[in-house]
Amino acid sequence: MEVTHRDLFGPGPTNVPDSILQALSQPTIGHLDPEFLRIMDETGERLRYAFQTSNALTFVLSAPGSIGMETSFVNMLEPGDKVIVCINGVFGGRMKDIGERVRAEVITVENEWGTPVDLGDLERALVEHPDAVAVAFVHAETSTGVLSDAKAIAALAKEHDCLVLADCVTSLSGVELRVDDWGLDVVYSGSQKCLSCVPGMSPITFSTKAVEKLKGRKTRVQSWFCDVGLLMSYYESGEKTRAYHHTAPVNSLYAMNEALRLVVDESLESRWSRHSEAARHLYARLEAAGLQLIVAEEHRLAPLTLVQIPHGADDASVRRNLLDNRNIELGGGLGKFSGKAWRIGLMGQNACVERADLIADSLLAEL
Ligand SMILES: Cc1ncc(COP(=O)(O)O)c(C=O)c1O
Repeated sequence: MEVTHRDLFGPGPTNVPDSILQALSQPTIGHLDPEFLRIMDETGERLRYAFQTSNALTFVLSAPGSIGMETSFVNMLEPGDKVIVCINGVFGGRMKDIGERVRAEVITVENEWGTPVDLGDLERALVEHPDAVAVAFVHAETSTGVLSDAKAIAALAKEHDCLVLADCVTSLSGVELRVDDWGLDVVYSGSQKCLSCVPGMSPITFSTKAVEKLKGRKTRVQSWFCDVGLLMSYYESGEKTRAYHHTAPVNSLYAMNEALRLVVDESLESRWSRHSEAARHLYARLEAAGLQLIVAEEHRLAPLTLVQIPHGADDASVRRNLLDNRNIELGGGLGKFSGKAWRIGLMGQNACVERADLIADSLLAEL
């Protein structure tokens, strides 16, 4: 089998560094093999650094980012619990859907697509619903290219004694994220975005307060696979007591271990600056060519830029030509932005000025 090399400038997956692909092709061993358990422990340590947390319960779920969302909701919410969900794009909407499926009472705070979560609106909802137990929001909304103020959202939620559930799928290691300093209780991400790893894994972390909430549950977690109480027997216990829960994706976890090693080696601060510098270069290139960016500068998400499709350009043919003629993937608009905007990802390995030039040159050549 031979797969064509593509340059991936969509909303993820992004290109995967060679050292990660090499890690993936190491020999498969058993998921209870002591050697593998040591790799998992090391991965947990590296992940704590990436999340900026000392949370003991920090590990990698064996499925894509959506399982992080589902795991957060099913473990933190019991039927009838009230949760405030902030919606400013597709993924906030998905949180609402999952909240309803776990039979929580979902209160929504809705903001215009292309704008961040509004703190005033959130505060009004918190005052109106003093019985809410949690606030959930998307730090980096990949459908709109907007970054919300996670630190301020968490501070507000804490003032009202709510747990904070944060979707950091497109922010982890791409923009500033400090789980402990900001007081985030459950934070999950995805492997295929700024970590530049292969898709299919979801790093997650739980604060002490989140673990207390879990231990105090009166009802069983609504999902067997996502029940963190059961998962803990595999991820948290020592070598001798570690018990089978499910068969971990051994080789993918080697890849995650290597992806996180690259984060540690580079340092988070350098990685955040690299994403920001690449994005600023892209903005300048696109705006100089007369293209319009959808999101106001102060709310832009460096790893993902939304550009308005110019009048006269055919969305599908531009993207198809880029793929067929140049092996370049450009992201289409999602939800309300479908057919109206392109999404340009500069994530992980691709977050550099040279790659920003490649996508800018290629897109402009196709217009
Ligand atoms: C913000 C956000 N949350 C959740 C998800 C779901 O992740 P996955 O597609 O890996 O299940 C995505 C995927 O793009 C995302 O961007």
